[in-house]
Amino acid sequence: MSNLEDQIKAQYNRREVSGITGSQTYWRFADAEREKKTRDVLLMYFQSFNKLTFMEVGAGQGGNIPFFNRLGIPLTQITVNELLPERITALQTNFPQCHLLPGNALNIELTAQFDIVYQSTVFTSILNPADRVRLANAMWNWVKPGGIILWYDFAFNNPSNPDVRKVTRSELISLFPLAQNSIIEKLTLAPPIGRRVGRLYPYLNWPFLQTHLLGAFQKPLIPPVK
Ligand SMILES: C[S@@+](CC[C@H](N)C(=O)[O-])C[C@H]1O[C@@H](n2cnc3c(N)ncnc32)[C@H](O)[C@@H]1O
Repeated sequence: MSNLEDQIKAQYNRREVSGITGSQTYWRFADAEREKKTRDVLLMYFQSFNKLTFMEVGAGQGGNIPFFNRLGIPLTQITVNELLPERITALQTNFPQCHLLPGNALNIELTAQFDIVYQSTVFTSILNPADRVRLANAMWNWVKPGGIILWYDFAFNNPSNPDVRKVTRSELISLFPLAQNSIIEKLTLAPPIGRRVGRLYPYLNWPFLQTHLLGAFQKPLIPPVK
């Protein structure tokens, strides 16, 4: 087992024991905001979704799949990767039509390319900068020319959770140096505030209180001349 796999498994074991959860109201608002902004960003690159192919790295139990399916991407055009065995089983059970790539994303050998390669709160679980660069390079190789990397992750540390580390805007830009037409937007009211304010989420969701970045990075149709 690689160091990265050990690290992720230990991290998630600790999380199960501590039972970290969020308030339902908070997640309802945060998810609705994320879905609206993600849809708006995707519409800047694609006119329709039903022909697109989509891959999610570190898909967890598949919580994001229904959203992309509702957008119009058929389940049969969705590929999911995940490392933790119990989450792989959940993906198999809940989304049998999706194509599953189990195991560490860094070890996947894949010649296929996708219109959208997505990661959501995976990179902040990866603490080693070299592993982050390797995974970003792998994701870039899985994007079709003209397709995009789609990104959602936090850009500020959570002092109460040493198992994760922010990916700042500048680090994010550096991970995809060949990208064009990039979009990076702030979103998501900081969880420690959002969990306390309940239905006031929309009134307090100012950029200076937002912790996450939504990003899209397009692969040029014609590769740059070296
Ligand atoms: C915070 S969860 C997010 C799950 C999902 N992306 C979401 O947004 O709901 C991060 C997930 O990434 C997975 N993960 C982390 N590193 C990975 C790797 N190198 N290969 C595959 N999965 C990985 C973890 O096992 C975990 O399920």
